[in-house]
Amino acid sequence: MAIPLSLMLVIAMLFLFSSKISSESDTLTQLQPLHDGATLVSKEGTFELGFFSPGSSTNRYLGIWFKNIPLKTVIWVANRNYPIINKNTSTYTNTNTKLTITKDGNLTLLTANNTHHWSTNATTKSVNAVAQLLDSGNLILREEKDNTNSQNYLWQSFDYPSDTLLPGMKLGWEVTTEALNLNRYLTAWNNWEDPSSGQFAYGVARSSIPEMQLRNGSSVFYRSGPWNGFRFSATPIPKHRSLVNLNFVDTTKESYYQIFPRNRSLLIRTVVNQTVSTLQRFFWDEESQNWKLELVIPRDDFCSYNHCGSFGYCAVKDNSSVCECLPGFEPKSPWTQGCVHSRKTWMCKEKNNDGFIKISNMKVPDTKTSCMNRSMTIEECKAKCWENCSCTAYANSDITESGSSYSGCIIWFGDLLDLRQIPDAGQDLYVRIDIFKVDKYGSKKVMVVVASIVSSIIAMLVVLKFVYWRNKTKFRSEVIIKTKGKTNESEDEDLELPLFDFDFDTIVCATSDFSSDNMLGQGGFGPVYRGTLPDGQDIAVKRLSDTSVQGLNEFKNEVILCSKLQHRNLVKVLGYCIEEQEKLLIYEYMSNKSLNFFLFDTSQSKLLDWPRRLDIIGSIARGLLYLHQDSRLRIIHRDLKSSNILLDDDMNPKISDFGLARMCRGDQIEGTTRRVVGTYGYMSPEYAIGGVFSIKSDVFSFGVILLEVLSGKRNKEFSYSSQNYNLIGHAWRCWKECIPMEFIDACLGDSYIQSEALRCIHIGLLCVQHQPRDTDTTSVVTMLSSESVLPQPKKPVFLMERVLVEEDFRQNMNSPTNEVTISELEPR
Ligand SMILES: *[C@@H]1O[C@H](CO)[C@@H](O)[C@H](O)[C@H]1NC(C)=O
Ligand SMILES: *[C@@H]1O[C@H](CO)[C@@H](O)[C@H](O)[C@H]1NC(C)=O
Ligand SMILES: *[C@@H]1O[C@H](CO)[C@@H](O)[C@H](O)[C@H]1NC(C)=O
Ligand SMILES: *[C@@H]1O[C@H](CO)[C@@H](O)[C@H](O)[C@H]1NC(C)=O
Ligand SMILES: *[C@@H]1O[C@H](CO)[C@@H](O)[C@H](O)[C@H]1NC(C)=O
Ligand SMILES: *[C@@H]1O[C@H](CO)[C@@H](O)[C@H](O)[C@H]1NC(C)=O
Ligand SMILES: *[C@@H]1O[C@H](CO)[C@@H](O)[C@H](O)[C@H]1NC(C)=O
Ligand SMILES: *[C@@H]1O[C@H](CO)[C@@H](O)[C@H](O)[C@H]1NC(C)=O
Ligand SMILES: *[C@@H]1O[C@H](CO)[C@@H](O)[C@H](O)[C@H]1NC(C)=O
Ligand SMILES: *[C@@H]1O[C@H](CO)[C@@H](O)[C@H](O)[C@H]1NC(C)=O
Repeated sequence: MAIPLSLMLVIAMLFLFSSKISSESDTLTQLQPLHDGATLVSKEGTFELGFFSPGSSTNRYLGIWFKNIPLKTVIWVANRNYPIINKNTSTYTNTNTKLTITKDGNLTLLTANNTHHWSTNATTKSVNAVAQLLDSGNLILREEKDNTNSQNYLWQSFDYPSDTLLPGMKLGWEVTTEALNLNRYLTAWNNWEDPSSGQFAYGVARSSIPEMQLRNGSSVFYRSGPWNGFRFSATPIPKHRSLVNLNFVDTTKESYYQIFPRNRSLLIRTVVNQTVSTLQRFFWDEESQNWKLELVIPRDDFCSYNHCGSFGYCAVKDNSSVCECLPGFEPKSPWTQGCVHSRKTWMCKEKNNDGFIKISNMKVPDTKTSCMNRSMTIEECKAKCWENCSCTAYANSDITESGSSYSGCIIWFGDLLDLRQIPDAGQDLYVRIDIFKVDKYGSKKVMVVVASIVSSIIAMLVVLKFVYWRNKTKFRSEVIIKTKGKTNESEDEDLELPLFDFDFDTIVCATSDFSSDNMLGQGGFGPVYRGTLPDGQDIAVKRLSDTSVQGLNEFKNEVILCSKLQHRNLVKVLGYCIEEQEKLLIYEYMSNKSLNFFLFDTSQSKLLDWPRRLDIIGSIARGLLYLHQDSRLRIIHRDLKSSNILLDDDMNPKISDFGLARMCRGDQIEGTTRRVVGTYGYMSPEYAIGGVFSIKSDVFSFGVILLEVLSGKRNKEFSYSSQNYNLIGHAWRCWKECIPMEFIDACLGDSYIQSEALRCIHIGLLCVQHQPRDTDTTSVVTMLSSESVLPQPKKPVFLMERVLVEEDFRQNMNSPTNEVTISELEPR
């Protein structure tokens, strides 16, 4: 027993000893300087510190590079501006060159005749300083005993970056305790053989609103726009999910930017490259054993900093940059640079002449002359800007969604510089303009759609302009005119009506000429295709069957109205396209198809757990409430059904096809209609029989969807044990007998809460109750979100539909896709 134990001990000691010898050290002490030829290697072997000569140069530099990849990639150079000149070209080894730690605790680079080539200037004295190369790539100087606290580093290379930003490194400035300002920024190598500081530098510009800036010498080369909650507003959004998380901190004491790889084992570096005048982010690709580019800033060579001067903006068209003046402005002189108010007599705050225009997808102006208040709403922001005559524009400072609106306020004073239109990024910018002039300007241009909306409180004239910036562009163009009310300013209402135009060729190209591969389904009024715009955005295109569409102008008006409806539970209408016989509606693309796809599929329905289902029901109700009540239009959907509820990436439901009935018929006013539009199984009896529709018909359809979500069964397919029950009848019975388990989707097992389930069935029954149906959308939302006492539902009429629309029913059941659900019935 004793022998094997002691043997093992010896072996273990031998092993320890040998591994100590063979593994390279990551720490440098005062006793052992680092000579040219030797290296320090970080603990896990990620980085190596030593001497090197870049390219064909013979100069020696002290630097850090990645250890475990075959391509030598230097990320930090100590003596970049003080090279050790090596006169002996036959060898690089110069044993007289060494890195040491001085008695006073500085790292110093010494050469033959004890010349200091480079030295740290640690501000704190130390007794026993050691230098250590960490696995983050950070070379630190610390007190020997204190090896944990990063606050106590005497010095660190991360505070003096070269041209490379590594994960975890802070890029930006800090007011240090000693009141010394530390500004960490990247400076490019002059060229790949010469690490000395180049012209190009990248860092955080210190103004009241920090932005990232790429500078060429003393002039700004590119600015990122301010941080908007997600990213810097003008940086390109990676096509795929970004490999890194960004962190931006902005306080009175410090302002910096950091990146962290999502996958910690991924090697990532961000580098300023003077040769190509860009900032590049690379990741190491194991497969090709090479660095791959993830991001380039600036995104293109177009629109350099302030290319179009003040009050002008830059856009990219036909592969070149084009300068335009903001609406209401004209070129200062025969196109030198910058724009001025078209009308010299324009007066600030002048009634009917001073107002704001919303311009979408803008890189916001240089924040040099701006100020920010993070707690203001956009209305307060507007009021603040309106008050001060030197205010020229305002915008949200934060566009992360909180509730359904953005927050924060940035206000610009004086000239607006470096504006650029960016189709796939940017944000809304509200610019103070001369409304009077814009009216004329617009009408001279291509097309004007005039819609006057008379509000009972304030008479207001809204002029919508369709500006085809120069000519038809494939990008979305949007101009919104806001007028100041004639009376009380505080009661003033902004009218923001976005108009989006798509070029037909763009859509043809995006959908591969409406190929059947791209067809998503056959919805109401026509087939739906998936498409991808040139800028990478996915869209859904509804191709309206031309027979059903009304006149051009009415159609346009309806689209404008619908695109105005914006709610987190409504599918966003991005725009439309009209070309001869073609009328297309363009929607945002929903990756998760529609609710029926999940609900009625035995394997997919498992993805919808009980909380998710409750959430879906509540969300649809809120979307519907918005359509019915909160939007100014009060739209009745008329064809609400589970296949019209689309799901986004996070399975949030969004109502689609709203307003279509209006758009395609133009006959929707509450009351009787000649033709019935809707889907069997979701139509309220009074609508199906009499063609009478109202908000309550939608509430009925909602009730059916609610019951479908709970039961996982289609209303129209359901037949209960050979009796003539449909889903509604079945719900009635289960509720009456207090047996939710018979009604709730079996795949939920007993994971649901009985009381919640019963309450939902109850609410569903109140929605589908025949006469009188007192339930409206508001009460549905209230009932769903509270625990109030509910009225008793009446027995629903659940047998009549079968008789009524027998013909149509059979047709639908036989159709190959379940999507053909719009039926047109002549009321009897
Ligand atoms: C250059 O290096 C070689 C090899 O180490 C050595 O033999 C030679 O003497 C050196 N020449 C000078 C000028 O230092
Ligand atoms: C050594 O010192 C002299 C001046 O004292 C200087 O001219 C020379 O360049 C130094 N040599 C090296 C290798 O730095
Ligand atoms: C410390 O070194 C940095 C560069 O390494 C330099 O910019 C700074 O002026 C130095 N500070 C002092 C006090 O020498
Ligand atoms: C490090 O060097 C700098 C400049 O040479 C010097 O001012 C400083 O006192 C040194 N640091 C310490 C801890 O002595
Ligand atoms: C700069 O980019 C060019 C082209 O991508 C590349 O060849 C060069 O090595 C880069 N330079 C540095 C210092 O990374
Ligand atoms: C950077 O600035 C210098 C002058 O300071 C200029 O010659 C050079 O062309 C600029 N580089 C770029 C890429 O604009
Ligand atoms: C992280 O990256 C490593 C190496 O590239 C890879 O093997 C691993 O699967 C990745 N992990 C995740 C969660 O993606
Ligand atoms: C735009 O111009 C660049 C350089 O002139 C060219 O490489 C590229 O193919 C052009 N792109 C298009 C879409 O014309
Ligand atoms: C920011 O706006 C809020 C709300 O209007 C106001 O209470 C606050 O005083 C403002 N803060 C500053 C620094 O102006
Ligand atoms: C408008 O704002 C500017 C910049 O903040 C300020 O200097 C000026 O006093 C303000 N004017 C008024 C009338 O408040």
